Amino acid sequence: MNSVIRSKTRHQASALAVGSGLIIALGLIGCADAPGDENDELVEFASTEQSITAVGDALPGTVAADFAEAKAGFESQEEITDGVGPVMNEFACVNCHSQGATGGASTAIERRYGRVSNGVFNGLANRGGSLRQLKTVGPFTGLNGARCNPPLEVEPPEATVHNVGRLATPLFGAGLIDSLSDSAITSNQANQPTGQRGTIVRTTNLLPNPNDPNQTLNGSRVGRFGWKAGVASLAQFSADAYINEMGISTQHCIRGNSVLAFARESRPNGVANAPGCDDLAPPNGGGAFGIPAETDDVVGDCRGGVNELQDDVNLFFVFMTHLAPAPRTAIDPNINLQGGTVFNRIGCATCHLLRDYVTPSRPGNGVPGNFSFRPRTDFLVHDIGTGDGIGNDGDSVATTNRVRTAPLWGLHHRTLFLHDGSANSIEAAIARHRNQADGSRIAFNNLNASDRAAMLAAMRSD
Ligand code: HEC
Ligand code: HEC
Repeated sequence: MNSVIRSKTRHQASALAVGSGLIIALGLIGCADAPGDENDELVEFASTEQSITAVGDALPGTVAADFAEAKAGFESQEEITDGVGPVMNEFACVNCHSQGATGGASTAIERRYGRVSNGVFNGLANRGGSLRQLKTVGPFTGLNGARCNPPLEVEPPEATVHNVGRLATPLFGAGLIDSLSDSAITSNQANQPTGQRGTIVRTTNLLPNPNDPNQTLNGSRVGRFGWKAGVASLAQFSADAYINEMGISTQHCIRGNSVLAFARESRPNGVANAPGCDDLAPPNGGGAFGIPAETDDVVGDCRGGVNELQDDVNLFFVFMTHLAPAPRTAIDPNINLQGGTVFNRIGCATCHLLRDYVTPSRPGNGVPGNFSFRPRTDFLVHDIGTGDGIGNDGDSVATTNRVRTAPLWGLHHRTLFLHDGSANSIEAAIARHRNQADGSRIAFNNLNASDRAAMLAAMRSD
């Protein structure tokens, strides 16, 4: 059904694209105001058909049983005996990623803090930052009868950047993004006019996909995940979320190297946990292979070229890798074309690109090859005046105020928008675009009713 609508869309578009202004006008609804002038480049808001039937489905070619197992891992509610805590935000990934289907966004908002001194950002890691875990496991009897009651994290007095909100992002299509080469992202920059040009985030890949020969441990990769594009790989985000959101620490083996970047328990506000009081996961083998005893779950000995993610982290990683983009809803092809054309004309598409990305022919992460998708972002960071002042240690204030162009897909499953969840509608999100996006916001406010309605309808159809 969807595929019929979409191929019709494509057909309509090319017919219109070669047509005259007159034909375009005939295609419009209530066309007292034609959409711009006849020289407008005609661009569809949605284009490629990907035969995905339902939100939450796996990408084509995924083994159903593997996906079901991985999804169950993502949905699994874990406990203090599994290593949850001592401080954390939630008990399962799905608790914050659920809108539309497992893996979606949510209304969950996290809190961060940091400090700027002499113009340089410091995430106050020694004081438990920049993420402030919002819960503890509460009082419990720890190892050897220890009476434990981990303290709740508070914002330390030295913070100058306060109580910043971060909304949970949707994960639909994340594996397609993970498969992209750096150049698929960096090439976007050159096409942007200087005033709107995005910044490429290059970052260290702390946990590569063990099966992707193009990703290396601690190698440089272009950041693409998170509101600030601060994380380069989905494997890393999986381990990172496990320790930071749930307090479960893990160790991994990458091509014979032991990875300890996610192996240490959170210390509430930077204060070491009392002995036996980090959680109730059995202490791991007393430091064998250099793995700290506090690590909740491990692969173990990496010698001999072992290449393996810890098993829960691997389940999250597999689930997100194979989670398909949310399918679009049906849309009148004329609205799709009018909406896309307007979106392009007023400059939204300078950052929210209206073009398809294509996965490599043999993606290292096992998603389908040569697969087109349209996330409507350049994966670059921009200052559009929404910046929250949170960054990595050593960042300038300008850097902390850049945010990744938010992908604009699956929007009809969302109820909150922007990195801090401060917008409750697409229009409200547009209204906060300033600085590099000033011109497009002003142009949006000046649209005639027909163009405005078509653009919003097109956006809501995805
Ligand atoms: C307490 C809520 C919460 C929980 C639980 C949670 N997340 Fe998230 N997730 C977030 C927030 C907030 C963001 C945005 C982070 C940012 O960039 O600041 C996010 C972003 C992500 C992203 C980046 C997606 C993108 O396109 O940028 C991935 C991947 C992710 N989470 C995976 C996971 C996994 C795996 C788990 C379970 C181990 C998990 N999350 C648990 C709140 C949560
Ligand atoms: C200069 C680049 C740029 C331009 C131009 C631009 N945007 Fe954005 N857009 C962004 C960035 C960056 C964000 C993320 C901001 C944040 O969360 O703080 C964003 C976020 C959004 C969001 C929220 C999505 C979400 O997941 O929460 C919507 C909706 C949106 N833009 C629509 C538009 C529309 C419509 C236009 C044209 C009127 C436009 N944008 C022009 C860069 C741009």
